[in-house]
Amino acid sequence: MALPVGRGDELDLEQIEIELLLEGIHRRYGFDFRQYAPASLRRRVRRRMDGEKVETISALQDLLLHDPAVMERLLLDLSVNVTAMFRDPTFFLSFREKVVPLLRTYPFSRLWVAGCSTGEEVYSLAILLAEEGLSDRVRIYATDINEAVIEQAKHGVFPLDKMQEYTQNYIRAGGARSFSEYYVARYDGARFAGELVDGVLFAQHNLASDAAFNEFNAITCRNVMIYFAQPLQQRVHELFYESLAMFGVLALGQKETIRFSPRESFFEALDAEERLYKKIR
Ligand SMILES: C[S@@+](CC[C@H](N)C(=O)[O-])C[C@H]1O[C@@H](n2cnc3c(N)ncnc32)[C@H](O)[C@@H]1O
Repeated sequence: MALPVGRGDELDLEQIEIELLLEGIHRRYGFDFRQYAPASLRRRVRRRMDGEKVETISALQDLLLHDPAVMERLLLDLSVNVTAMFRDPTFFLSFREKVVPLLRTYPFSRLWVAGCSTGEEVYSLAILLAEEGLSDRVRIYATDINEAVIEQAKHGVFPLDKMQEYTQNYIRAGGARSFSEYYVARYDGARFAGELVDGVLFAQHNLASDAAFNEFNAITCRNVMIYFAQPLQQRVHELFYESLAMFGVLALGQKETIRFSPRESFFEALDAEERLYKKIR
C-alpha cells in the first residue's frame, strides 16, 4: 500500500528532522535550542550539513550524537551573534545611574563584557564610561566563544544603515552628546574612534568550559545565557560569582536572572528590572 504523501512534504520532513535533532541535542548534551527562531535555525543547520558533507539532517544527527566534536562545531554555527549599540537602552541608563557611581569609588576597576559578539556592546560601554570621565580608570575585558566575532569587534566598524537606530538608542540610554561625534562614515561602514577601545582587552573565552581569569568589579553578560540550559546557566553563575570582587556588580539585562539559582542569596538587587545585582557575600 502506498502511504499518503501531501504537498510541501519536503519542508514538513525537514521540520520533523529539525525537531528530532534539537530534541536529541537537548537530551544528549543539555543545550536547549528548541525555542530558536526556525528560519535562522534551518539556515545554520544547513550550513553545518555542508560543513560535515552530509545530505540530510538525520545524517547530521547521527554524526552529532556520537561525536561531541561535531556538536561543538554546530554550537559555533548556532551561537547567535545578533547585537546592537545601546541595545535595550534602559539597561544603559540604569548602568549609568547605578553602576557608574560604584565604579567611581575605585581608583581603578575592571569590567568584563562576557559574550561581547561583534563589539557593539563594548563600544557602547566605552562611550558611556568616556562620558562619565572613567575611561582611564576602568579597564574593559571583552570576551566571546567565537574568535571571528572578536576579530570584527576589534575593528569597530558597524553598518551605516544602523546609525539612525543606534542614535535613538544612545539618546534613550541617557547620552547627551551628538552620537555622530563618535564615528566617521566610510565606504565600509561607520568606523568608531579607535581610542574608545584602546584599553580594551579582547580575548576568546568559553563560558561553558573555561575558568575564571581575573577579579572584576562589574560583569555584564546579556543575551547569552538565554541560549543555555539550566545546568550550564548555573555553571556560569558560579563562574561569575567567583570572578567578582566583593560588592562587585553582575549586570544581566532584562532577559536573564539569577533568581532560582543557588547563588541568588549571595547577591542583592541594585535594579530588579534591569537585573543588576551586587555581590554581598
Ligand atoms: C546574542 S549575542 C549577545 C551579544 C551582546 N551581549 C548583546 O547583548 O547584544 C550572544 C553571544 O554569546 C556568545 N556565546 C555563545 N555561547 C558562548 C559561550 N559558551 N561562551 C562565551 N560566549 C558565548 C555568542 O558567540 C554570541 O556572540
